[in-house]
Amino acid sequence: MTTAPSSAVDPFATETLLDPFPTYRQLRDQGPAVWLKACGMFALPRYAEVRGALEDWQLFSSAGGVSMNDEMNQKLKGGLLCSDPPNHNVLRKVIERPLTPRALSVLRERVTTEAENLVERLVAKGTFDVATELSPYLPVSIVSELVGLPEEGRERMLEWAPANFDCFGPINERTKAAFPIVGEMIHYAFNQCVPGKLKPGGWAQMIWDAADRGEIDPAICPFLMNDYMGPSLDTTIFATTSAIWLFAQNPDQWAIVRDNPSLLPQAVNEAIRIESPIQAFSRYVTRDHEIDGVTLPAGSRAILLFGSANRDERKWEDPEGFRVMRRETNEHLGFGFGEHQCVGNNLARMEIRALLVALTKRVKGFELHEMERGVNNVLRGIKKCVVSVH
Ligand code: HEM
Repeated sequence: MTTAPSSAVDPFATETLLDPFPTYRQLRDQGPAVWLKACGMFALPRYAEVRGALEDWQLFSSAGGVSMNDEMNQKLKGGLLCSDPPNHNVLRKVIERPLTPRALSVLRERVTTEAENLVERLVAKGTFDVATELSPYLPVSIVSELVGLPEEGRERMLEWAPANFDCFGPINERTKAAFPIVGEMIHYAFNQCVPGKLKPGGWAQMIWDAADRGEIDPAICPFLMNDYMGPSLDTTIFATTSAIWLFAQNPDQWAIVRDNPSLLPQAVNEAIRIESPIQAFSRYVTRDHEIDGVTLPAGSRAILLFGSANRDERKWEDPEGFRVMRRETNEHLGFGFGEHQCVGNNLARMEIRALLVALTKRVKGFELHEMERGVNNVLRGIKKCVVSVH
């Protein structure tokens, strides 16, 4: 056994979050498992080990929580994200019911029409902010309506959802500031997201219906609300904005997808690979485990750096390049992998693709005027992205 390489860098410091890639490279070069002194946790920065950990849920457990602090892990306990099989399989069956490709096929026409109308309006304006005018529209209008939560909380959702993700980080100023906001979201889940207040036939009501049929314990229902509220907004919104930002900087790649829109699903994967909206979650190590001679002791926590794995030069040729024709692009870990692979990925792909299809029909190119990144402990994304289109 050798001592783990260790690093003094804090991947959750503001300046690192704004540009994490030099730090990721440094960590990858140090080894497959690096002790982060600032966090008191291991980081897994390379593709092979992150994917290996996602595949081995017995060893890298989610039931101990996937955030990087105990307080949040306690709050999320029992939801889909923070459970292991066999319990996870039961919950997943309920949550994924409206999200399977078959269930989603009934939405395709509506999503397409809304995307076409929105893009038509924005293209007519000529200049617009992708981050606020284009990307949030489908998640906030269609998806929120389908989930069917009571109206009064919906307008707070865009504040609650990123706060929820800030609380996935280790305890720092951002986490501390976000906890009271997450407290409001949890209060709303327990007090408002209950039968009688939810839209009949909506996804949230379907969770309670599953409890009525005895599929799940009713006590777990408020925790499961978070599985639709937390991850269905900013992830997709950030992925959409990042995709347009990448195309604005890589006009040759836009020309390729305009000529051949059948490459758009691959382009969506490539945008999520290179700008992974969720950069990191963690796992609880259930027994002593050795990686390249380094022991991760039982009870330690390993941070899975999706954003770093997706740019690992050991896996990807020209990892920093945005290349829509990259063959292996569907192997990215931006949606996770294995048991917990994103249950909403088909919906997210449908939303992003519909907007890009509508844009390929009307836009030859983008000119970027302004860009400002948001800062979040685990999310990566752009909060202002003003472009003009021609
Ligand atoms: C581009 C958009 C999205 C990205 C990048 C993304 C990313 C991820 C990732 C990385 C995971 C794996 C977590 C882990 O292994 O611990 C995950 C899980 C999950 N996502 Fe997404 N997500 C997106 C959109 C959505 C949407 C639209 C929904 C809901 C409608 C959703 C709901 C979930 C849920 C419930 C889980 C937990 C699955 C489980 O534990 O079995 N996500 N997502």
